[in-house]
Parts: sequence; structure tokens; C-alpha cells
Amino acid sequence: GRRGTLKGMKQRLLVVANRLPVSAVRRGEDSWSLEISAGGLVSALLGVKDVDAKWIGWAGVNVSDEVGQRALVRALAEKRCIPVFLDEEIVHQYYNGYCNNILWPLFHYLGLPQEDRLATTRNFESQFNAYKRANQMFADVVNQHYQEGDVVWCHDYHLMFLPKCLKEHNSKMKVGWFLHTPFPSSEIYRTLPSRSDLLRSVLAADLVGFHTYDYARHFVSACTRILGLEGTPEGVEDQGRLTRVAAFPIGIDSDRFKRALDLPAVKKHVQELTQRFAGRKVMLGVDRLDMIKGIPQKILAFEKFLEESPDWRDKVVLLQIAVPTRTDVPEYQKLTSQVHEIVGRINGRFGTLTAVPIHHLDRSLDFHALCALYAVTDVALVTSLRDGMNLVSYEFVACQGSKKGVLILSEFAGAAQSLGAGALLVNPWNITEVAKNIEHALSMTSEEREKRHRHNYAHVTTHTAQDWAETFVSELNDTIVEAQLRTRQ
Ligand code: G6P
Repeated sequence: GRRGTLKGMKQRLLVVANRLPVSAVRRGEDSWSLEISAGGLVSALLGVKDVDAKWIGWAGVNVSDEVGQRALVRALAEKRCIPVFLDEEIVHQYYNGYCNNILWPLFHYLGLPQEDRLATTRNFESQFNAYKRANQMFADVVNQHYQEGDVVWCHDYHLMFLPKCLKEHNSKMKVGWFLHTPFPSSEIYRTLPSRSDLLRSVLAADLVGFHTYDYARHFVSACTRILGLEGTPEGVEDQGRLTRVAAFPIGIDSDRFKRALDLPAVKKHVQELTQRFAGRKVMLGVDRLDMIKGIPQKILAFEKFLEESPDWRDKVVLLQIAVPTRTDVPEYQKLTSQVHEIVGRINGRFGTLTAVPIHHLDRSLDFHALCALYAVTDVALVTSLRDGMNLVSYEFVACQGSKKGVLILSEFAGAAQSLGAGALLVNPWNITEVAKNIEHALSMTSEEREKRHRHNYAHVTTHTAQDWAETFVSELNDTIVEAQLRTRQ
């Protein structure tokens, strides 16, 4: 079977991602404190058996002195992490610029910079050069740590140039690349000035993975239309060399959520929240404060619902957790004030002396508080304008064992393709439609709620992050074996 390749031996894996799974805070000249951020990728790889994984990435801080760098290398080594040091100028041009002002919006169908963002287009070339330089810096660190037999797994839109850098240095290296965002229609993608360079680099990998079949298909179309290559059911072929392209939908570590809900501290928190919101239905949004999440659209839909359903006004509350992100990028700063203005207006309009309809928080919650919040929620609202997968929808479902709440989910999130039958799917741009679905969700019969929840729950607990990582890594191994077979024939 596919998994067979992993059995019996410890497969060494180098995971390369822009951001390391730890955040580092400097405590002194040569001391650092580290906090593990347990995102999906971390718990997925911790759960994979017979794999010995190391992480290579940026620690999210600028460290310009050697004493500090050496101390950080030592501290991170204990967490099996290896840092790539990026100076402020590179971070500005590569991370804020090319990654988050160009690729991120383009891949989510927001297009290339226009009007006030146009100024940044003039820097396009210097930003792309910085992107290539940064990718080469990641490659250098991989090359320093690579041992024969290692598998190298590159992640996300930050590192599209990495497969090529790695293969040019060592063509025998096993290289996989996985995209966590959507890959857009080739008609959108082809507007990117550096479209061909990036495609050619990604194709240097042995296996290229996406969350959904649609994204994989868009990628193959881009390769056929822009590069004139041949797409096959297996992937993309270039002069007899096949790059395998496939869909690997990610999941969550659902057991981790189940375990958390059994903790006394979390149970106590659930009780407190239940009392706090007694007599009201709880609606919840949890998003990074990002244009793609459709937070203003969601709040406007909630306003529309309050307008049209006066009976519900004092019986429902919307909790919106908006986690600040990429705060150096002007677009994100603008979004923050836009959201604050809308929330203020609606609370002014529908609030009373004792209650407001929207609680908006500009911060993250710790894992246990988040689990408790998911558990007391009646209706979760995930209204992304585009989203690679969206695991908030999965996390909510994992915490709803007793409540069996309703998930309202954007049809433009990758998760719509897996939770489609259990969720209420909406077009987030259609505020009237979302408002109607809010009303439907709040008044749904318990039979319908349970049926929908059962479907979602079965999916979330069987398609886990561990499965995702195991499948990708073993398929990557197999791809190499196939390629070697071909050259021997
Ligand atoms: C998305 C991306 C990730 C990224 C995360 C947080 O999920 O796909 O690669 O790490 O957002 O964004 P940040 O820019 O803070 O790393």
C-alpha cells in the first residue's frame, strides 16, 4: 500500500515553511523564550508515525547580531527547528511586499495592486528579486542540513521558488511542495508578471499538492496555457519528466479538541459563558483580520438580519474574534478601521443600555478559551470571500458534540467541498442570502441540526491532519520510486 514506504524505518523529513511553528521573544543578549504555536501543520506532523521531522523557517523576528543569532539557533534546536535569518529590508520586500501584497491577494481573486496599491507595482521587480533572494536563503539552510535520504517538503506561496533552487543544487533530492491557499483560475494567475518563472520552479518538485481538485486543475491549466506543457491525469509532463500534481485536503487533529473539552478548566469556562449569554443564541466568527475572510460582509449580513427579524434583536449576539495579522501591510490597516466603523455603527443602532448585538475582539484567544467558545456557539459564520481550506469550520464542528450547532459556510472556502452537505452554504457577497441563512440556522429543527452535524462530525474526525501529512509524504516517496524506475527502464 501507499503507506508501506513509511513502515519500519524512520523517514527523515525537512519541513520548510516561511514561518516556524514557534514564536520567539528575546529576553536578553543571549536568551530567548519560545512558544510553540500549535497550528494544524505542527500537530499533523507530530502525529505522523515513523517520521523524524525538522522544521526550517523564519522565526518572525529580526536578529542582526551574531550573539543573538547563535543563541536563537541553540534555543530552537531543542524544538527541532532551524531558523532562516531575514533582515528587515528582505522582510519588507519579500514578506510584506511580494508575498502579502501581490501573491496573497492574487491567489484569492483580489487581483494585482490597483489605484492606491499601484505604487507598489512599480516596485514589482525589486520585490520579485527579493522574493527569489529570500527563497535562495531558505534553500541554503536546507542544503546545510540535508542528508542523503531526506525528504524535503516545501510549504505555501512564500516558497514557490524553492523547489527550483533545491533541485539545481541537488537533482536527487526528493522535493514536495504544497499550497495552503487556493490556486486561482489560470485567467487570474496569468496576469502575474513573473507567472512563468514561478510555474517552472514549482514544476521542479516531484510532487505538487493542493487542498482541492479545482486548485490542482487550475494549476495544470496554467502550465498548459502559459508554458504550453502537457497536462495528464497524473500531473504535468515536460520533455518526458512528470511532475505529479494531486489534491490532498488538510484536516485537523480532532482528538486534541475532544481532549480539551474534557478538561475541568475548559468545562468551567463553558459554564461561565453559558451563564453569561443565557437567553441569547450565540453566533461566532473567528478569523485572522484579513480581506479574504469577508468580515465586513459578514457583519453587514448580520445587520440585515437584525433589520428584517426584529423579534430576534435581543435574543442573539454575534461574537467576532479578529486576530491581527500582517499589520505592516497598509491594506490590513485599512481593513481594521473599516471593521471598527461598521461594528460601531451597528452597535449604536441596535444596542440598548445593557446589551450590544456585536462583541468584536481584535486579538487571539488561547486554545482552551477558543474550545470553550466553539462549544457554546449555536451558529458559526465562516464567510470567506476565498479561502484555501478554512479550518475554523472544522474546529467548530469538532467542539459541537453536545450542542450540534449550525455551520454557515462560504461556498468559496475549500472546506465547502468537504462539509458541503452538512453546512448551510452561502455566497458571502449576497448579504440578503446570508441574512436569510442566519434566520434559518437559528430556527432550525433539532432533527435537521443533528443530521447535519453528524455528517460534518464524521468527516472532521476521519479526515485528520495526520492522514493528510502521511498521505502526502508517502505519495512523495512513491513518486520518487516511480521516477527512478522510469530512468532504469
Ligand atoms: C495562511 C498562510 C500561512 C500563514 C498564515 C498566517 O494560513 O497559508 O502560510 O502562515 O496564513 O499568516 P502569517 O503571514 O502571519 O504567517
